[in-house]
Amino acid sequence: MLPCPQFLAASRDSPWRKRCKWAYVTAVNAAMETLMLAFAGEDALVVPSHALFLGAQPHPALAHWPEVCGWQPLKPQAAAWERAGLPRVDAPAGRYPLVLVLPGKSRDETLAWFALAREHLEPGGRLLAALPNTAGAARFEKALANACGNITSLQKHKCRAFHALEDGNWDEEVFAGWRALGGRRTIPNTKFAVEPGVFSVDHIDPGSALLAAQLPATLRGDVADLGAGWGFLAEAVLLRCPKVARIDLFEADARALACARSNLAGHQREMHFHWHDVCEGVPGSYDAIVMNPPFHVGQATAVDLGRAFLKTAAAALKRGGKLYLVANRQLAYEAVLDAAGLVWRNAGEDRTYKLLFAERR
Ligand SMILES: C[S@@+](CC[C@H](N)C(=O)[O-])C[C@H]1O[C@@H](n2cnc3c(N)ncnc32)[C@H](O)[C@@H]1O
Repeated sequence: MLPCPQFLAASRDSPWRKRCKWAYVTAVNAAMETLMLAFAGEDALVVPSHALFLGAQPHPALAHWPEVCGWQPLKPQAAAWERAGLPRVDAPAGRYPLVLVLPGKSRDETLAWFALAREHLEPGGRLLAALPNTAGAARFEKALANACGNITSLQKHKCRAFHALEDGNWDEEVFAGWRALGGRRTIPNTKFAVEPGVFSVDHIDPGSALLAAQLPATLRGDVADLGAGWGFLAEAVLLRCPKVARIDLFEADARALACARSNLAGHQREMHFHWHDVCEGVPGSYDAIVMNPPFHVGQATAVDLGRAFLKTAAAALKRGGKLYLVANRQLAYEAVLDAAGLVWRNAGEDRTYKLLFAERR
């Protein structure tokens, strides 16, 4: 067991914080900073010989931990964790004296992650979680307190960190209920399987539905779906466009991509599933690209993320290649298409969304 004396100095510098690209990352960083405060000050927890981190985010102080194993379904964050030189797993395994949890934004996902943390805790181990107040930190702290009894809490940076020691008296029925929330489910009145935490978990996104209905049946050749989620647009391409030879799905959320793989399993066309950060560009070039670009990261708006998607798409189009995208009407993507040298037109809109169709000539 090691104390963590480097924590405060490391946290003050936090060059990692300066590298943040998106507003949400800053919010998550605030939760991360608050989480790490549990290892500072008078009542500091001691750093154990090994720990598991669900929703892993790098932090300078972690460089001084003996061993912390990270699980992170989101590719950009998983890549940041690996760049920090920290070990990552695709699926958590084993038991640990400490499990850290930095949940995402959905209720079911957060509770399912508490249950996952419990599953990987050694007897007598400690579960430590942190969330932004705007993500319901107080509510989740109360839920964990109800399941665990004693809980210790600290508040800072508009976030809460709270932890509980496994003393043999935790309410295992509550954890079993939370575990069940993490399973796959079907979107009502569809055949699409989804998991909590992925985009559009209880309905088909109306913007994506608008685009799907307008995709020309003449699409052919190699197609990419950028930010493919659980596969809705890719499925629309495969159903509507018999001349499409191959489709590549690029998606940052490993859970959504796994759902897409199972949702598209019945199609006989060539399909490739890439756990990939679209902001980094994509390998290959395409006759057509479809997308409903993200412009939120977590709870915060991140229009630059959408713009990065457009730039990646423009760079990946073959000459004569076509881009089909749907966006909220207020998002000024037209200038990005102009700057990328694409010829574009507004192919329709409703009260919320617009369709922008573009071509590399
Ligand atoms: C608006 S949703 C569209 C999902 C899907 N195409 C649909 O129509 O239902 C945007 C998707 O982009 C994914 N995403 C966000 N950031 C990403 C990134 N940097 N690289 C790849 N995918 C990303 C999200 O996980 C989400 O599934």
